[in-house]
Amino acid sequence: MGSVGAKEVPVLLSPEGLRIDGRKLDELRPLRIQAGALHQADGSAFVEWGANKVMAAVYGPREVHPRHLQQNDKAVIQCRYNMAAFSVDERKRPGIDRRSQEISKVIGEAFESVVFAEEFPRTSIDIYIEVLQANAGTRCAGLVAASVALADAGIPMVDLLPAVAVGKVGGAIALDLKKEEDNYGEADLPMALVPQSGRLVLLQMEGHMSEDELARALDLGVKGCRDIYETMKQALRERYAIEPAHGESA
Ligand code: CDP
Repeated sequence: MGSVGAKEVPVLLSPEGLRIDGRKLDELRPLRIQAGALHQADGSAFVEWGANKVMAAVYGPREVHPRHLQQNDKAVIQCRYNMAAFSVDERKRPGIDRRSQEISKVIGEAFESVVFAEEFPRTSIDIYIEVLQANAGTRCAGLVAASVALADAGIPMVDLLPAVAVGKVGGAIALDLKKEEDNYGEADLPMALVPQSGRLVLLQMEGHMSEDELARALDLGVKGCRDIYETMKQALRERYAIEPAHGESA
């Protein structure tokens, strides 16, 4: 532990280049995805990613509530991200706050760019993301869970949306920040990728990076997303007991 003023700041990077949990800079936290975890929803997924635990449920296409949001030419995609009061160290005040509104909006917009909403006019596709345990990167874990839940619900999409937060910790670019790295690191950059086209449909940044660091961070994040994509596809294969296509990695 080093100290800044009265606050204890953990050492984020060892002299050997290992992180606070022993990971290498380009290493993801363990990721486990269960597709179809809920029976009531049309589609669902449970994601355990490091110490994050996130459930996503998808309903629809179904009648639009509230009615005035209905669109004649396409489905509306309504996303609600929520963090349980018990999901963080210090009890979070239950209910919608500005942070959850922002996250719901950016996740909803990311899905608007991949879901074939025009196939379901005058309907709603409702995505619920519940964070049960949080340890940084929950918007990315929410995106991953919701993506698998949408596929599980049979909603047609261009592609699944793998997502990960990259950042800068102890002066180095690192993949998939955990809480201490998010809190005490120099930058945090969540992103979501359309794997087929390489297009980013969510990109946010908190903190500072040089142009060169940003380029390296994006590169690392895209590679991370491609690994996460494989785990997402595997979860769907397990749910529907589909063998990997010949020559394709599991
Ligand atoms: O979770 P994500 O990294 O997408 O969003 P963030 O706003 O950067 O939050 C980072 C982390 O701070 C969360 O994952 C939680 O672990 C923690 N947090 C918290 O402890 N209490 C809150 N009210 C909000 C976030």
